[in-house]
Amino acid sequence: MTDLARRCAELIRDVPDYPAAGVMFKDITPLLADGPTFGAVVEHFADVARRAGGVDLVAGMEARGFIMGAPVASALGIGFVPVRKAGKLPGPIMGASYDLEYGSATVEVHPATIEPGARVLVVDDVLATGGTAAATSSLIERAGGVVVGLAFLLELTFLPGRSMLGTRSLDVILSVD
Ligand code: PRP
Repeated sequence: MTDLARRCAELIRDVPDYPAAGVMFKDITPLLADGPTFGAVVEHFADVARRAGGVDLVAGMEARGFIMGAPVASALGIGFVPVRKAGKLPGPIMGASYDLEYGSATVEVHPATIEPGARVLVVDDVLATGGTAAATSSLIERAGGVVVGLAFLLELTFLPGRSMLGTRSLDVILSVD
């Protein structure tokens, strides 16, 4: 485990049975409140983008992906694309739906903010089932962007998230099994 992963593990709080019985919620608010660690996470993601080379945009998923992704874009001096939950963006929008345990969810973007061929790094806090990340990636690609990689603070390795992302490049700071 890296030093950064160890620091993150100490600052992510496990909350049993939230928001539903049987779910172990990962509360990242203590990590966000720790300036040096939050800064190191942002810098790690910025390095992922630098290594990918020529990244034009960072995309982050509502809501915690906004917290993680926007400062990465700012650190790199590039733009940020908010990938929003359904019904939050005025048109014209493009959306992608994915299955949940019960029902489905939809993510939406403004495709006009993604230039054809724009190289996009996707950033979020947690990779769980992978539904959000897979839908976001296919949405960005359908909008004309190129997903150069996805970067997460935390991967829940007992869920099949990674397998949902195909051959796309993946960076994870901390894995939890
Ligand atoms: C969480 C998390 C990821 C997503 C991961 O967001 O921030 O975006 O779930 O889950 P998945 O891999 O199973 O799709 P959530 O929908 O809880 O929204 P929030 O950030 O607004 O709390």
